[in-house]
Amino acid sequence: MSQKENDRWWKSSVIYQIYPRSFQDSNGDGIGDIPGIISRLDYLKDLGIDAIWICPVYRSPQDDCGYDISDYQDIDPMFGSLEDMDHLIREAKKRGIGIIMDLVLNHTSDEHPWFKEARKSRENPYHDYYVWRDGSENEPPNDLKASFGGSAWEWVEETGQYYFHQFSVKQPDLNWDNPKVRQEIYRMIRWWMDRGVSGFRLDVIDQIAKVPDEKILANGPRLHEYLQEMTRETFSRADLVTVGEAWGADIERARKFSSPDGKELSMVFQFWHTFADQQPGKSKWDLAPLNFRMLKDTMAMWQEGLHGRGWNSLFWNNHDLPRVVSRLGDDKVYRTESAKMLAMVLHGMQGTPYIYQGEEIGMTNAPYEIEDYRDIELLHAYRDRLREGIPREDVMRSIHAKGRDNARTPMQWDDGPCAGFSEGEPWIRVNPNCSQINVKAALADPDSVYHCYRKLIALRKEYPVFRDGSFTLLEHESEELFVYIRETEDEKMLVAANFFGREIYWSLPEEWKEKGKVLLHNYDGMKEGMLRPYEAFMIHIRK
Ligand code: GLC
Ligand code: CA
Repeated sequence: MSQKENDRWWKSSVIYQIYPRSFQDSNGDGIGDIPGIISRLDYLKDLGIDAIWICPVYRSPQDDCGYDISDYQDIDPMFGSLEDMDHLIREAKKRGIGIIMDLVLNHTSDEHPWFKEARKSRENPYHDYYVWRDGSENEPPNDLKASFGGSAWEWVEETGQYYFHQFSVKQPDLNWDNPKVRQEIYRMIRWWMDRGVSGFRLDVIDQIAKVPDEKILANGPRLHEYLQEMTRETFSRADLVTVGEAWGADIERARKFSSPDGKELSMVFQFWHTFADQQPGKSKWDLAPLNFRMLKDTMAMWQEGLHGRGWNSLFWNNHDLPRVVSRLGDDKVYRTESAKMLAMVLHGMQGTPYIYQGEEIGMTNAPYEIEDYRDIELLHAYRDRLREGIPREDVMRSIHAKGRDNARTPMQWDDGPCAGFSEGEPWIRVNPNCSQINVKAALADPDSVYHCYRKLIALRKEYPVFRDGSFTLLEHESEELFVYIRETEDEKMLVAANFFGREIYWSLPEEWKEKGKVLLHNYDGMKEGMLRPYEAFMIHIRK
């Protein structure tokens, strides 16, 4: 890799993800908004992050919380205005923070003007913007299912055809095979680039080149062609970061997506490590105890697989995944220790780390009653799984473990009413543990999870080994320990972590005891021959 490729700004950056409706409400309507984000920029600057990925704030009927866009070039009044957005971009820039927009290009809302036209008749100029197939009513073209339940085909009387939707019925898929669609999209992207954004996250990008007739959803035959065209026509004209959501990526493909030649994207989100606690070949709701070896092997495989040949994104959670401290740590007795351990294991790796709002204070899952949840996917799963005859307790257990609303409860700023998120009634219940877990308490406590994240971000800037080092997994056979070494010509770093809540015998190799400098540790001092519950540290040697 050339020096220039290695110097891309996003390779030494840490990105913070904001779920706007749950971050900060500024006007008491119970919904987070853009002025709310602006009011918290100083907090983010102190944390040390370089860029913010903001989930969709475009105009939308909010069937899927903004992932159903009806106007790509306007802001939903619920979140503010275009002026607010420009203001946010400016204010963030002043603080050295870039704004990353979320691009949903696989589908629009059914209330997008293109679709409203498209459904009028087969002759309409916008008809071919979407994916239509002939058929007769009650006899869809095939049995493909939509991600949020039901058939992926929806009948339209006016055209006497079905349209295709991989997600909800209000999210019709765009037809990327139509060059006009692609050109409209590129124009829109350039328009955002001109407003000064620093990058884009591309929603389910590996699904844009679908061939529904052959039941090909992800990784369609023309996917890389479309991505390269898009990058040529848009992103490559500025120094942007781009991250594609790619559930279907394997190492081979990820090398292509994130190739250092810059023809496609900066990196992708792949999700292999999120499958280690579900039954093989089944859905995320089919819970299984964590397969720790699988988690570890998977992460190691991606570290090695992309080293020098691509670039990893590093994340434990996002707005679609449960809270990591509840999922892989212990959100009760060892909440602080385990949250820090998880942070060290992830941030010690090669790639660009993403912090999901609230992760930096160790926010937990929200085990609510069904009435208190809002997410379309969760509510459909509840209905469908009960119908399949699964006992209600089991359905709720899965929802408490995996439901997307676990990550979508309001950000916990302080111990006041509504956790300082809003002065009104929040759109979704605040987690009752906000009286203990909140930003105000975390800032005041030097041993908090927050200060560990802050330190990790600073370390990444100080030691090049974080960005450049090779990765070697140690203690491969261990059922409890996650230990690895990062190494460059000048430095090496060891990260050791006990992933569980019991003591494990283990001795630090002599060399590290003698020469190593401890960069970060979630306990005071070492205990000879032993790692305590969720104990983790990072040790550095300058060669
Ligand atoms: C992505 C988003 C998710 C959304 C889906 C459909 O997976 O992260 O929130 O529901 O795409 O757009
Ligand atoms: Ca608001």
